Amino acid sequence: MGNEESTMVDDKAAPSVLEARSVEGVAKYIKEHNVKKVVLMVGAGISTSAGIPDFRSPDTGIYANLAALDLPYPEAVFEIGFFRENPKPFYALAHELYPGRYRPTIAHSLIKLIYDKGMLLKHFTQNIDCLERQAGVPGNKIVEAHGSFATQRCIDCREPFPDDEMHKMVSESEVPHCVKCNGLVKPDIVFFGEALPSDFFENRHLLEEADLCIVMGTSLCVQPFASLPQGIRPGVPRVLINMERVGGLGSRKDDVLVLGDCDAGVRKFAEAMGWAEELEAVWEETNPDPKARAEEDAPPLTRDERLQEEVDRLTEEIDRSLALTDAYQNKVRDKLEIHEGEEEAHRQSGSGLAHVFPHLARKPSH
Ligand code: OAD
Repeated sequence: MGNEESTMVDDKAAPSVLEARSVEGVAKYIKEHNVKKVVLMVGAGISTSAGIPDFRSPDTGIYANLAALDLPYPEAVFEIGFFRENPKPFYALAHELYPGRYRPTIAHSLIKLIYDKGMLLKHFTQNIDCLERQAGVPGNKIVEAHGSFATQRCIDCREPFPDDEMHKMVSESEVPHCVKCNGLVKPDIVFFGEALPSDFFENRHLLEEADLCIVMGTSLCVQPFASLPQGIRPGVPRVLINMERVGGLGSRKDDVLVLGDCDAGVRKFAEAMGWAEELEAVWEETNPDPKARAEEDAPPLTRDERLQEEVDRLTEEIDRSLALTDAYQNKVRDKLEIHEGEEEAHRQSGSGLAHVFPHLARKPSH
């Protein structure tokens, strides 16, 4: 952790570069200093409002909820030695975390907006959910320090494994094996004890160029990522938007702490910048079904319109029922029975993560 800094200055000391140690002070600094080289450092806390639990929050974090996965200790799910012995817990977790089922949060859209403004120097993320990419931040601006689900390979012969096969296996909670040597296949996520991608080390020098640093949603307790904020030059403001104070941030004169919920902190920052509406619009672009949403927002139907809709719906349903042949009905009934049996089995043995991922309890497979 970057705690060596915590003895330098107390977090209420007068700023040196900023006018005030507040988001308003930072907004003024950005405008007056024509800030163009923002570096962001983020972790799981920026994705919790999307429905993905973080790792270390007591009670709600992934590590506090892995008991059902039969692990010797929670971190074992990301340890290569344990994975070799038993890859199933990792794939149960991967099934839930796999990109494509969550919408980016407003914090991800802030990163996109900073990019749109031509101010993003680099975005360092520990997250493997790919939500920054989904929010529209280009890949060449992102350093995925702990890897991602984007690619995968055999842990023995390093042979890459096809994306579509991987997608199929993960969605079926199956463990994929190498087509060449039958070794275990693992997404290119950095497990404990593995080296970080070269991209991380090749871009670390950019910290010295930054004219603003924003840290969001991370406990800053996994190295070497946790040391990144220390690479920011003294005199360059560092903003922490997080539930709790971490990594010695707040110890420099121009550190600003925005403690509390990430989304609220992000909106507060956008408000101070005069970006509030723009940010909401950028976020709306990540809405997977804007049409459905527009319909939700549409004025309510009149009584007659509602009645007509209901009649149309019922007529359609009756027509459809009449069109079903007996054979088809039997087939559907058989399928339903099998599916119910599978659901019951899933509930009993299950991925065991329904209490962490509430949607699992509603729709066990996808
Ligand atoms: P952690 O779970 O360690 O920390 C998340 C931080 O975000 C904590 O400080 C929370 O208080 C804060 N937080 C959670 N929800 C928040 C919210 N809605 N608003 C504001 N703050 C919130 O997650 P990371 O720091 O990302 O490694 O963990 C680092 C690495 O440890 C991960 O990349 C992972 C794990 O082992 C791998 O996946 C390989």
